[in-house]
Amino acid sequence: MFYSPEVIEDIRLGNDIMDVVSAYVQLKQHGAYYFGLCPFHAEKSPSFSVSVDRQTFYCFGCGATGNIYSFLMRKENFSFPDAVQFLAERIHYRLPEAGGAAETHKNARIKEGLYEVNKLAARFFYDALQEPEGAEAVRYLDMRGITRKCRVKHGLGYAPLKRGALHKYLTGAGAAEDVLEVSGLFTPDKLRAGWNDKFYGRLMFPILDVRGRVVGFGGRVLDAGPGGDAARSVPKYMNSPETPVFEKSRNLYGIQNARQAKSKEIILVEGYMDVISLYQGGFQNTVAALGTAFNAQHAGVLRRYAESAVILFDSDEAGTKAALRAIPVLTAAGLRVKVLQVRDAKDPDEYIKRFGSESFGKLLGGAQHHILFQVEDLKRRYDLTDMEGKIRFTTEAAKLLAQAESPVERDVYARAAAEASGVAFDAIMAETEKLRGMSLPNAGMEKKLNFTRPAYPSVRPEHNKLKEKGLLEAKKLILNLMASDTKLLRKINQYVSAEEMGDEVYAKLYNLLVSFAEKGRSAEPAELISHFETVVEQEKAGEVFAQGGAGDRRIAADENTERVLNDAMKKVKIAYLDGKIRTETDAEAIKKLLESKRAVY
Ligand code: UTP
Ligand code: MN
Repeated sequence: MFYSPEVIEDIRLGNDIMDVVSAYVQLKQHGAYYFGLCPFHAEKSPSFSVSVDRQTFYCFGCGATGNIYSFLMRKENFSFPDAVQFLAERIHYRLPEAGGAAETHKNARIKEGLYEVNKLAARFFYDALQEPEGAEAVRYLDMRGITRKCRVKHGLGYAPLKRGALHKYLTGAGAAEDVLEVSGLFTPDKLRAGWNDKFYGRLMFPILDVRGRVVGFGGRVLDAGPGGDAARSVPKYMNSPETPVFEKSRNLYGIQNARQAKSKEIILVEGYMDVISLYQGGFQNTVAALGTAFNAQHAGVLRRYAESAVILFDSDEAGTKAALRAIPVLTAAGLRVKVLQVRDAKDPDEYIKRFGSESFGKLLGGAQHHILFQVEDLKRRYDLTDMEGKIRFTTEAAKLLAQAESPVERDVYARAAAEASGVAFDAIMAETEKLRGMSLPNAGMEKKLNFTRPAYPSVRPEHNKLKEKGLLEAKKLILNLMASDTKLLRKINQYVSAEEMGDEVYAKLYNLLVSFAEKGRSAEPAELISHFETVVEQEKAGEVFAQGGAGDRRIAADENTERVLNDAMKKVKIAYLDGKIRTETDAEAIKKLLESKRAVY
């Protein structure tokens, strides 16, 4: 979901950074700033500052900086859209719908109603579990070893057998009929022309979205043990149908807890009980897709919070198949993927109950790279005693190995594949490199042209460091002057280009400043920061204007400024040209670059 810069800015301006930060940090006023203990690093005396004027924060200790969005993204591990949505809701700002058209009033009312009804229903189920009618469900939870604390944490409940009890409760609480109708909690009763509760006599698992709102439920029968009873006519699990607030291909069970775990790695399991068991065992970064196959949208959600995923499905054939299907979906989203199959237990839930969380942790550490997992699967599928089988195995394995970017990885996996299959390592490696050569037509081009780079005298490393620091300062100065003085901005724009800033974040800041100036608008750092989507970029952008901490960035221009600016621009241009010269391979082009460099001096 992408929001327009106007919407993002409206919402930023509608929320005061002080109000939001004070919910997390105790702040004391010192002049124009507020100070407190930094929430992003451990410290004993306050070096974290908030500027109300600038609507930014800056830590003198760890250098963390940014605007209200950056703060929430870091503190809550929100993605950028999460932070926008969170702050929009805080001020009752109606965000445009995904399609772009504004949400109709009715839809918005229904959605709000659904969140409320779901919350009430979760409460109803939770309370029923504590009542005598919930005794059987409590016994069941005891039997499965789910602690009291964990029940509360996951809001587990019980849907009682009393006919129509939930409907009566919700109507009594003032829920509107049209909201109840689409809530997925009821099925029409044709005989009585009324509604029946969909869930009854089941253990209830509320499903929370990323932000912790109840969007649906899963319900499990009580009498079938783990694994269930195949002969039963009722399904073991029943899930809420899709509703305006519950999109199954986006929601993952456990996502809210997993987000808060702030782990770069996510564990993907099959079922509700796996999520809960792992959570109880200390692995909070666990999620499950809900009664649907894991798909690209799920992967997109995970990618916002994690860099790598461990697929940990049931150790049966269905689990293996599902894992093989999930691998390309996860890698396509840019996640590093490993696969783990538990032995001596049918699923992770059973494993952790039987062998404990320490043993599970060890197991997790040994998860296989997805390529190896796929190679092992190939091994099972081809008859390796047969020549034809060996050839097909080698071709397929090479296709997988060729995906690995690093030659070391390819070597390691090829060795494993050779060992597993009895096919010669050299054969597998040769096939792999052949495939890589085909997909990289330009490889070896430099060699063919027989081009040798001019030799550069080596520079002392400490000199290099100083030079880099000076260059960085020069870039920051240029951007600061562009932000504070339109006349200087024009001058800079004539002499230095965005590309020459030599860095994506700086180039983008440069372009933003130019476009703001064209519109005659002032460019506040807090607004500029919102144009970046990741915390890392936001911090880098914020840092440019955070010279002297949360202090005033505005620089009064005098003759001295002009001289300092000229030096800075020269430095930036030369560094840019040097970089070009280093990577250019065409002799003619290098000559031109050297000429341009001379012209700068
Ligand atoms: P499992 O049967 O492996 O679930 O199905 P589980 O969580 O391990 O259940 P226990 O341990 O027997 O209590 C995996 C997932 O498939 C969905 C549910 O989301 C479940 O968690 N499922 C399963 C259904 O939607 N309906 C079913 O009838 C069964
Ligand atoms: Mn299971």
